[in-house]
Amino acid sequence: MAMDEPLVMGIETSCDETGIGIVRGTTLLADEVASSVAEHARFGGVVPEIASRAHLEALLPAVTRACERAGVALSDLDAISVTAGPGLAGALLVGTSAAQGLAWSMGVPIYGVNHLAAHVAVDRLEHGPLPQPAIALLVSGGHTSLLRVDDVTADVTPLGATLDDAAGEAFDKVARLLGLPFPGGPHVDRVARQGDPNAIAFPRGLTAGKDQPRHAHNFSFSGLKTAVARWIDQRRAAGEDIDTADVAASFQEAVVDVLTAKAIAAAKGSGIDHLLIGGGVAANSRLRAMAQQRCDAAGIELRIPRPDLCTDNGAMVAALGAAMVTAGVPASGLDIAADSSAPVTEVTVG
Ligand code: KG4
Ligand code: ZN
Repeated sequence: MAMDEPLVMGIETSCDETGIGIVRGTTLLADEVASSVAEHARFGGVVPEIASRAHLEALLPAVTRACERAGVALSDLDAISVTAGPGLAGALLVGTSAAQGLAWSMGVPIYGVNHLAAHVAVDRLEHGPLPQPAIALLVSGGHTSLLRVDDVTADVTPLGATLDDAAGEAFDKVARLLGLPFPGGPHVDRVARQGDPNAIAFPRGLTAGKDQPRHAHNFSFSGLKTAVARWIDQRRAAGEDIDTADVAASFQEAVVDVLTAKAIAAAKGSGIDHLLIGGGVAANSRLRAMAQQRCDAAGIELRIPRPDLCTDNGAMVAALGAAMVTAGVPASGLDIAADSSAPVTEVTVG
């Protein structure tokens, strides 16, 4: 770790995780995450007002813990970066307000950054500076996109995205159909390990017929979710037992098959031999294994950060902020505004 690299604090509050990360260059020094997920569980989804209040309560204690963990004082920081979008408007506002206050009081620059780009940039902390260009598959609770990333601090081009549900959303909805807790992704992942991924042939959206060329880089998961619901309903109506593990494994296999096939096809089609996978669903064990297998076969170098860096955290925001400082990207003004629907092309937000 070179001490001349920028020391940056990242603040993440776009959904239900309050994340404070501290990095020096590409070295992770602290990653404090406080989650309000337990408070949302009984509603079966994130309740924005509850999330905002939880961020307000968790944020400053997390800042203190992160500084202690990293062994730095607030006055040592070179910059603060904060998720300014996309995300829940009220939740984002808590993070950007805190970042403005801290940056102003310490007289350091502030970077309003894109949450989606941060999911891609976080891999710097594990595997070093990103290969340029790279294809990135971004799979989270709210987004599913294929991107061409020429420079994660400035130049991200969307190749395709989901036409309906995000991959994580599909996991969460199918988990609910199976009576598993919210958020369902990790539970489906766990239960699927005991099941047969080939037990049920669930549909692979936008992979066949005339859909394939027209939507080569797009995804659709709502038909899959409906197919799972119908399959369960039919068995229940016939009084048959449902093997939860087989349904979970077969559903997961369908999602992962489509995600990896399309990501690798995008890489091959663009002549790019680096694939990055990021976002909460990138924590999925089957996705990680199949992506590795298929990339090895295709001669593509795969990079996926370790699971706890895939789900929302502050380190990813700090990682992108530090990359911006190093690249000489101009800081945002102190008056940054959160943008709840910021597109992925806007790497600097507000
Ligand atoms: O990136 P993230 O933490 O938050 C958003 O930006 O949305 O992603 C959360 C999503 C949820 O839908 C969650 O169920 C899913 O990621 N997820 C998983 C796994 N861990 C988290 N999905 C499948 N398998 C997992 N192991
Ligand atoms: Zn996320």
